Formats: sequence, C-alpha cells, structure tokens
Amino acid sequence: MNAMLTGQGINRTDGRDKVCGRATYAGEFHPPGVVHAVMVTSTVPAGRIAAWDTDAAEASPGVIAVITHRNAADLPDNGKSGKKPSTGRVLSLLQTNKISYNGEPIAIVVADTHERAWQAARLMRPKVQTGTEKPRVDFSIAKATLHDPGKVQGKPSDTHRGDFAAGVNGAAAVIDAVYTTPIEHHNPMGPHATVAVWNGDALTVYDSTQGISGDKRSIAAALGISPEKVIVICPYVGGGFGCKGSSWSHVSLAAMAARHVGRPVKLVLDRTQMFGPVGHRPQTEQSLMLAAGSDGALSAMRHAVVSETSTIEDWTESSAILTRMLYACDNQTTQHRLTSMNIGTPTFMRAPGEASGSFALEAAMDELAHRLSMDPVELRLRNYAEKDPESRLPFSSKSLRECYRVGAERFGWSRRDALPGNMRQGNLQVGMGMATASYPSHRSEAEALVRMMADGTAVVQCGSQDLGTGTYTVMTQVAADAIGLPLDRVRFELGDSRMPHAPVSGGSQTAASVSPAVQAAGLAMRGRLLELASNDARSSLHGMDVRTLMVLDGQIRSREDADRSEPIAALIGRWKGPTLETRASSAPGDEKKQFSMHAFGAVFAEVHVDPDLGIIRVPRIVAVYGVGNLLNAKTAHSQLMGGIVWGVGMALLEETHRDQRTGRCVNANLSEYHVPVNADIGEIDVHVVPEEDPHVNPLGVKGIGEIGITGVAAAISNAVFHATGRRVRNLPITLDKLL
Ligand code: MOS
Repeated sequence: MNAMLTGQGINRTDGRDKVCGRATYAGEFHPPGVVHAVMVTSTVPAGRIAAWDTDAAEASPGVIAVITHRNAADLPDNGKSGKKPSTGRVLSLLQTNKISYNGEPIAIVVADTHERAWQAARLMRPKVQTGTEKPRVDFSIAKATLHDPGKVQGKPSDTHRGDFAAGVNGAAAVIDAVYTTPIEHHNPMGPHATVAVWNGDALTVYDSTQGISGDKRSIAAALGISPEKVIVICPYVGGGFGCKGSSWSHVSLAAMAARHVGRPVKLVLDRTQMFGPVGHRPQTEQSLMLAAGSDGALSAMRHAVVSETSTIEDWTESSAILTRMLYACDNQTTQHRLTSMNIGTPTFMRAPGEASGSFALEAAMDELAHRLSMDPVELRLRNYAEKDPESRLPFSSKSLRECYRVGAERFGWSRRDALPGNMRQGNLQVGMGMATASYPSHRSEAEALVRMMADGTAVVQCGSQDLGTGTYTVMTQVAADAIGLPLDRVRFELGDSRMPHAPVSGGSQTAASVSPAVQAAGLAMRGRLLELASNDARSSLHGMDVRTLMVLDGQIRSREDADRSEPIAALIGRWKGPTLETRASSAPGDEKKQFSMHAFGAVFAEVHVDPDLGIIRVPRIVAVYGVGNLLNAKTAHSQLMGGIVWGVGMALLEETHRDQRTGRCVNANLSEYHVPVNADIGEIDVHVVPEEDPHVNPLGVKGIGEIGITGVAAAISNAVFHATGRRVRNLPITLDKLL
C-alpha cells in the first residue's frame, strides 16, 4: 500500500483551477453561435393567461424569439394528469395558460445577448384573468386545510408506537409547545444555469446540477426523447444545497428554446429568480409534546408537522423523521401534514427535515431539561438510544456519547450556571446551549473506471458531481491509494453523463457511494498492473508470483527482494495491447436491513445578548461529530464548518418574506435575504471523534454534507434562553423577538 493518502488533509486538486478562473461552470460554456434566453415569470399567484401582448418584446433590439404557451412545442404529459411525472418534478413548460404561483415561468425570450434578452423580457405583457377563487398564499390561513402526503422521503407520513396517552399520564413533566421555521431559499453562489446545444436530434446540456443522470432522465422525459440522445455535462456546480438536486423548468425550457431557434441557447437565472421556480425550504409549524418522569426518562413523545407545498406537487419537509430514532422512548407518535398553496414547489435544502426538525425537537428537549431542573446533556444521556427505537435495529456505529463528552469538555460546559439569566460579561447576558446533531448515512450504487495512460498516469472517471465540497480531491486520494500511484499521477474526472453512473449528490451520499466504486476499480487496476509486471519478459519482476508483488509510489516492487522493482510508467510504456481499463461498481447490500445507519454529533453554542438592544452574537460554537472515517480531514472540516455557519444563519438571520396578498417573495435578493457574513461568525471548533464503522461502506465513511447544520439552530436558541430566560420558538431569532 502507498502511504495512505486517503484521510490526509491535502489541498483541493481543483483549487488552483478555481482561483485562476480555469474551472468552467455551466453558465461559462460558450458554444459557437450561442444565444441567450431569459425566463419571463408570473407576477400573480394564480390565474389564466387570456392573451399575450408580445409586440414590444418582439420588436426589441436583438430579439430572436418569444416563446409562450401559444407557440411552444407540444410536449408529452407533464403533470397535466395531476400525477407525479417522469420528469421528477411537475414543471412549467409553457404547455398551458394556467398560472399556479407568483414567479412561475410563463414565457421565454431569446435574444443575441443576455442584456437584450432581459430588456425584451421586461416588455412582455400577459393579460391575466384572475379566478374567482382566492389564491392560497397566506400560510396562517392555508393551514386550516391539510392533507396527508402518505409518504415522506419514502417512509410513512405518520407513525405510532406504544401508548402515547399512557405515557403522558403520570409524567412528572410535560412540554407542549409549537415551534415554527420560516421559508428559506438556498442561494448557492452559482445560480442555476443551463446551456443547451442540439446536434440533429441529439442534445448536449451544460447544466449546474447535483445530479447529471437524473437531469438527463428528466430532460428526456420532458421533451419526449430517448435518454440516449441526451448528454449532461457539469464539471463544476457552484454550490447546490439541494436546489440543484432536481431538474427544474428552466433546464428543459433552455432545450426547448434551443430547438425553437435552431441555435445553442444559454439560460442563466438571476438572483431574484432563485426565489420561486427552483425550490425552497418550506415553512413549518411543529407541535412537540414531550413527557418524562422525574428521572428524565422520556415516557411519551409527539411530533406533528405542518409544512407548505405547492398546488401542483406535494413535497414534504420531513421534520419528524429524526424524532423517530433519536431518543429511546416507547410511546411515540409522529405526523406530517401538508397545506397546498399558490407557491413554487419546495424541495430538499441542506438536511431537509433534520435541520428544521432538530430545531423543534432539541429546543423542546431543552425546555424539558429546564422543567426537570436537569442538565441538558444529562437529559440526553438519560434517554440515549442504544439501538434504533424505530427500526429496532442496532446502529452500525454510534459515537454520540463520546461526542457529548468531548464537546462538553472542549466547550467548558461545566462552567455553565444552571440558572438562566445568571451569567454576564459586562453588560451582556451570556448563554450556553447545546443540542444533538444527526443525519442518516445514505449510500447508493455507483460505478467507476480507471484507465492507464501511456505516460503511466491514470485517469479515473465517475459520472458524479462536485458541489464545491471536494469530490475531485477525495476521489483522487482514494484512487491513488487503490492503484498505488502518487497523487499527481492520478486525474479524477466527473460531471459527464457518458461516464460510469453515479447517484445524485444529495442526501450526503456522494463520498459514501462513489468512493467504494473508485476504490474497487483502482484495486482492479492494481491487480492488472501486477500481472503485467509478472508477465512482461522485459520487466525485472518477470515470472514472479503476483502475490509477492506490491505497489508503492508508482513502482511495482517485490515484497521479498527490495532491489527488484519496476516503474509503472515503464511497464505501461512497453505495453502494446489494448488500453488498460478497469471498471467496478459498488452497491449497498443487506447491511441496510441489519443496521440503522446514522451520523451523530453534539453542538455547543455560546451567545451574548445585549439586554437593551436584543442583539445576539455567537462568539463561539463547539461541534463534535462521529461520522466514520474522513476521506480528507481538511475538506471535511470545511464542509462541517459550512453547515454550522448555515445553522447560525438559520437561527438568527434567514427568512424569506412572502407578500400575503400576491404570494411574491419580497426580499428576493442577497441584500435583504440575510445570510451570515464573516463578521457574524465567531470561533468555530469542529472536532471529529475516531469512529470505525465496518458496515456503512467499504471505506467506513458517513456523509458529512448535511449533519453540520443540524442542531445548530437549537443550540443557539437554547443558549438564548439560557442567557435571557426568554424562549423564542419561532426562527429566526431576530432582536425584535427579544424586546
Ligand atoms: Mo441535499 S439537501 O440532499 O442536496
């Protein structure tokens, strides 16, 4: 084996290309003859387009085409049946004059430049008939009408175990409270962007997406063409966080526009369009009821969630799923309900369900601890789940106890005064809060190939994605170790749907899914190289038993005789046969049925609250995780820290305001939709405890893309309570809520 590269905190292999501007993002592809499309979006929440006045737009300089429902190509059924279509999402592809939400794409303008397309788009005048029925845009009214989605993330929407009522009766303490989380929008730095190029009946799409294979399937289904005719290319994503996990309307609209004008078309969303047609984290109202004995043992739990969805498609924020497995409790009921509104369909957003659900659950646990006069860490230890209370399966690994212990130690939890409002620093109220973090460990089938080049370097390919988190880097490390080459002799490629298949980069599953395939293909290549060395008459290792050979730093060596070795480059240089290529696929097996697989962590936050102004600062956060092995200590640290920073935003800043008459997002820009800046972030201490998990996958890695945000908002809200004695159950905790 090489000195293990896997795990080391090496710099990003794509870092230099990124800072030098050589990394090409979807919107930066310029195929010859490319023209520019802009989506025209609805300014009303519901209605029908009775007529279009497109004259001014069509006469506008540089305009090539104006596409509305009147002249758009007829497409196969897409949600017209009211069923979930094969495109994955119900899309708005100009097939009808119906408007279902404010911000919905209702036309496309194509012009020779981006600016001229925008200029013309502003001249588009739909004549809209608003119906007699009032649009559903106010959550507080809409929530009076609920429906059961049936399934949430493939699981039942409701669960019951034990006897909830019996568990409440006779409890020493009962917490019964409602928590809310607001509408949030993803806002990756790179907006959605698509460049569509037709070549006869074949289509190439450069798209900013978390899943090139799903994107390809969706585009093919939308346009009614064979998936074999579609190539999706995405070398760099520019951030996704879930909003690029689905193929939204603009992707297929770009392809439609390109076919319409007979030229390549580029369609880039502007920041305002990121609020509406490409998903959001839906607002939730979560009722939590916790009952416990005087010893802190939970005797009953109830978590009922209401979240918003669109009128065209059900999408559920699965906030109570975490509650089903986090603590040992025999009597429990959970429920998810939806209210349909005239809004864009919500979607996955970093730890969908767990981020919002952990806020409510972990704040309620803090309330319970306070009611019982029990230390919040102690309460969690008292209810520690040794096995999954929902599935009854053992955990594949769980280091949560260690996370609490190490986290409390690093944070200095013992310095916390149990009494709220009792700690001060000068004029500032000081609060310390904590919460549990958790996210499931997902894995899907993936395939990879390794190809040896004539110069002795290896190209390794997998049709995966790098959202900016380090896929290029960690897979280069895994491949180099498996083949036996130094890092700089391996080039890892991804983001092309012609490459071996990989799953969507969602659910924190890329590292866990792709690395086993890359490793297997790399090990297969190592085996081929050993055979080659043994079979090649000109090799100094000729005739040796391959079992006595090893690969080290680009050399094949005899284990027995240190003087006998052969550089891989020399071996490949002499090879006259077909290109050396190995492929391997790797998929989860029965272990999924035998073990419950989750990552866990503990988050500790300190807040300082100005009692006169209500201003909340978070000078430090300590977060300790058990997430299996890390493929790269540095990128992993960054990814976890990024999740925590977002948790600070979720706790204190982020909220999309929707006009309750028009359903329009009114702060649809980064000056009014607040995310944390450097000045908002204090010290963040991220620590990962050693954890061996032989079950999750061959490399023992658990996903880390999403767990970082979980628990953070609760830890901060609990710290705010501890500082002030005020319990704010409605995120974000803005200063007005403290005054
Ligand atoms: Mo993640 S929200 O599953 O991209």
